[in-house]
Amino acid sequence: MLKYKPEPRKPMPRITYIENDGTAHRLEIRNGLSLMEGAVRNGIAGIDAECGGVCACGTCRVMIAPEWAAAVGTAKAMEAAMLELDDEARSTSRLACQIEVTALLDGLIVYVPDSQYRP
Ligand code: FES
Repeated sequence: MLKYKPEPRKPMPRITYIENDGTAHRLEIRNGLSLMEGAVRNGIAGIDAECGGVCACGTCRVMIAPEWAAAVGTAKAMEAAMLELDDEARSTSRLACQIEVTALLDGLIVYVPDSQYRP
């Protein structure tokens, strides 16, 4: 008889994505996914992720709620270079594909900027 006893599943962090019209989507996102993957898998409008998450398209831009900026951390050089191309970038702008969802981000709120909805 097998004595395998699975470990209890870790609760999934809850992430709130807020669209430019104020629509909020409070979702549970699996640990280890990126914020972008969590958005795409749940059909969040405005997160197109055209490059698939390799930091090359800028179509996954979000703004981190200011109170969460420190927990999320800062962009690395390649991401920062991509964000510099965005005239509307703010100090809290990030590429969702470069942020890994972890338990530390449980409760995170991100906003999808207006610029993500333009053709
Ligand atoms: Fe292309 Fe994030 S998905 S930069």
